[in-house]
Amino acid sequence: MRPVEIRPDIYWVGVNDRTTDLFEGLWPVSDQGVSYNSYLIKDEKTALIDLSKESFTDDFVEQVSKLIDISKLDYIIVNHMEPDHSGALLRIRQLAPNARFVGMGKAISMMKDFYGVDDNVMVVKHEDTLSLGKFTLRFLFTPMVHWPETMITYLEEEEIMFSCDAFGSYGSLDGVLFDDEAKDQLPFYEKEALRYYTNIVAAFSRNTLMAIDKAAVYPFKIIAPSHGLIWRKDPMRIVSLYQQWAKYATEQTEPGVTVLFGTMYRNTERAMEACLQTITNEGVPVEVFNVSTVHPSFILPSLWTKKGVLIACPTYERAMFPAMVHALDIAEIKSVKNKVAGYFGSYAWSGGAQPVFESYAEKLNWDIAGALEFVGCAKPDDIQTIQQIAQQVARKSKEG
Ligand SMILES: Cc1cc2nc3c(=O)[nH]c(=O)nc-3n(C[C@H](O)[C@H](O)[C@H](O)COP(=O)(O)O)c2cc1C
Ligand SMILES: [Fe+2]
Ligand SMILES: [Fe+2]
Repeated sequence: MRPVEIRPDIYWVGVNDRTTDLFEGLWPVSDQGVSYNSYLIKDEKTALIDLSKESFTDDFVEQVSKLIDISKLDYIIVNHMEPDHSGALLRIRQLAPNARFVGMGKAISMMKDFYGVDDNVMVVKHEDTLSLGKFTLRFLFTPMVHWPETMITYLEEEEIMFSCDAFGSYGSLDGVLFDDEAKDQLPFYEKEALRYYTNIVAAFSRNTLMAIDKAAVYPFKIIAPSHGLIWRKDPMRIVSLYQQWAKYATEQTEPGVTVLFGTMYRNTERAMEACLQTITNEGVPVEVFNVSTVHPSFILPSLWTKKGVLIACPTYERAMFPAMVHALDIAEIKSVKNKVAGYFGSYAWSGGAQPVFESYAEKLNWDIAGALEFVGCAKPDDIQTIQQIAQQVARKSKEG
């Protein structure tokens, strides 16, 4: 997409990435794509807000060059040093040798660590301002959203929050840049915003709420993040979604049950089949994921938002089925805490998956509603117990 003037003299100069399969080397985006948004402000002094991923440097330079002579660039605002936004730094420095890098102290020290750059820098602190002429930039320190150096840049005269990873989403910008242009695609971007939140930001939910509080001191008309849509029609929409998701880290989540299952020979899967209607009969939604085939990236949104979790998988080498261990490891890394949970699964001689489940439940503060290891195929008694476990998880997911 070509540069877009989002307000007079303020431009989106981002790039779309439709070739990276795994964002951060982890999270699938081959079907959805992702954008690296950066912004150019033309004033008495020109400033670029955030850069681009290294492999997109040529495209990024071309975008900026359509609007200015890069060699005359005055400032590069470093909201975040993660290389999806800083990868083009060395090339931009070559092309704009007089431009000053502006960032929080930690961002500037990271510039040395990543790129060996420590000259022509300007360290700013929370609430500092920088005048570009008619426009004033104010820097809001928002550590751990997403790294310790991260800040939001607020453009006072136009009331724009250049919020970096905060309020971002997966999904390339396919001819659509603003929330009001997205129309039918809006549900896609909101769904991808939740997936992005749970994959990237969720572990820092407390910091996200603190960042929202800091930003809320200032009126904003536009939220311009570093990934995904720019929100100008309803900027509060994405802010309140992020706020709601961030609160889920500690407060009551939605009634419903995420069922994760893994199976080799379908004994556990058949037992699971017998309990899904029990959940529905409790009047709560259920979502089922096969951990062997569905990437945790797509499981996390359900795990994060629903109060109930049912883990169904067999014993494997005296422990838990490995694909489930992987899913639960990711849940642990992403701080999927405070759930009501149940377990069941088949074994043949020793068992051993249930204690693994119990240790995850303890680490993640999951309240265990019930657990059952059954030998071979589930017998009528086993099915009855499994249905009771499912019912308890579903019921308790409705409690505040
Ligand atoms: C590679 C492998 C390792 C296993 N390790 C154990 C084990 O250590 N202890 C045990 O009781 N059962 C073990 N089992 C047996 C399975 O837990 C048992 O076959 C169970 O019924 C499989 O459930 P499923 O049909 O849902 O895949 C193992 C099975 C396989 C294939
Ligand atoms: Fe980031
Ligand atoms: Fe990012």
